[in-house]
Amino acid sequence: MPAAAADRDSLKKEAAVYAARYVEPGTTVGLGTGSTAIHAVREIARRHAAGELPGLTAFATSSDIARVAREAGLPLLDNTGPEAIDLTIDGADEVDPQLNLIKGGGGALFHEKIVAQATRRQIIVVDEAKMSPQLGTLHDLPIEVVPFGSESQRLFLEQLGGHPVLRKKSDGTPFITDEGNMIYDCAFGPIADPEELAAELRARTGIVEHGLFLGMADDIIVAGPAGLRHLQRDPLTGQVREAETL
Ligand code: A5P
Repeated sequence: MPAAAADRDSLKKEAAVYAARYVEPGTTVGLGTGSTAIHAVREIARRHAAGELPGLTAFATSSDIARVAREAGLPLLDNTGPEAIDLTIDGADEVDPQLNLIKGGGGALFHEKIVAQATRRQIIVVDEAKMSPQLGTLHDLPIEVVPFGSESQRLFLEQLGGHPVLRKKSDGTPFITDEGNMIYDCAFGPIADPEELAAELRARTGIVEHGLFLGMADDIIVAGPAGLRHLQRDPLTGQVREAETL
């Protein structure tokens, strides 16, 4: 790994390992997907193997992370999942000052949103390069569509100003999600009204899900060269405050 990527990965790991301290015995934990969340999965597995988390069950947001968790010895729930999840630790591609997110860079946004909406406390772990003044500034918005009629969704997204690009694998074939769908990465640029865009996308038949996670994150752990920051959003007022780190 080149030095800059290694430095960034060590920041991701720092945030993820810190967040894993919040996992408690006897609870159900949601396992996020991506290069940051995977560090949390490994740390939770380490704590579980050390006997610190008796009675823990886990629910994975992707087949990839389920495989990693299984290999690490974590007890996993099957795909129907639990009624409710106590805590989920996941990554994000972009975080705005209100702790709204863009997610889906790893292609797991649909399952990640199902897990997030079933979760009591959603902790997002990022390195500080993901912090943004306005969603859409740093990252394209991933939008998952069913393959049937997908060209018509491409046109719809084009007309919304999204400049959609079909996500492909390194062999040039379309990337297919765990639910058998396709993803358009949309370069909207800074999104003036994420709620309005989310509503337009939600209303469109054939669009399965989008990567705007609005009002879903409770805590953000941000790692930077100067150390960790812990931001918390009050679920009632939406106000964000700086919390003490453990
Ligand atoms: C997976 O679909 C995503 O939502 C990831 O959580 C997001 O892309 C962040 O990934 P990294 O931690 O790899 O940057």
